[in-house]
Amino acid sequence: MMSQDDLKRAVAIAAIEYVPADCIVGVGTGSTANFFIDELAKIKNRIRGAVASSEASASRLRGHGIEVLSLNEAGGLQVYVDGADEITHHLHMIKGGGGALTREKIVAGASRQFICLCDASKLVDMLGKFPLPVEVIPMAKSSVARQLVALGGQPVLREGFTTDNGNVILDVHGLKILNPVELESALDHIAGIVTNGLFARRPADVLLLSTAEGVRKMTA
Ligand code: A5P
Repeated sequence: MMSQDDLKRAVAIAAIEYVPADCIVGVGTGSTANFFIDELAKIKNRIRGAVASSEASASRLRGHGIEVLSLNEAGGLQVYVDGADEITHHLHMIKGGGGALTREKIVAGASRQFICLCDASKLVDMLGKFPLPVEVIPMAKSSVARQLVALGGQPVLREGFTTDNGNVILDVHGLKILNPVELESALDHIAGIVTNGLFARRPADVLLLSTAEGVRKMTA
């Protein structure tokens, strides 16, 4: 029987072939991204460096001797590789379980291709069972929470957690997200929300799905 870690390692290995030679790689955050970073270390002489979507990923990359550049230094990226908390067949995602959603959305948005790495348990027909992370400016916490309730969600403050950008996270439970593109845009218009964890307007381009039978490639 393959363990969850075996599945994550398998999909991380499969992702390496999407990394062009001599490029700067956009790198995500989380346990699957960590496996990818470990695989990247094995080909570090073939890449110029990486842009990280979190302090945690940056220090893991540096620990392997991979140069970490800021997005401003790097400019546009060819590829961004990251996990997700949920993903649909349209490759719309919920991200931010690790709290890195803002930098993830920025780096993904600056990248030509988004390669998403998941195990089969994350593929869903409808997003929302996983509570939707929303990064909020601290002074707007209560007013944003009330507006999220008005939208039908149940926001819960992620206790004891501050993002890399100094903000708080509200995890919104109970949403049945039938139209992720529309909800992503609606949340972007609420003052005080920095970023919401829906990655639908800019979905993944390729999903590498790890199953016991092997890695399946899916495109939207
Ligand atoms: C980090 O903020 C998230 O967006 C991650 O991509 C997500 O939580 C996936 O993490 P795992 O690979 O640990 O499941």
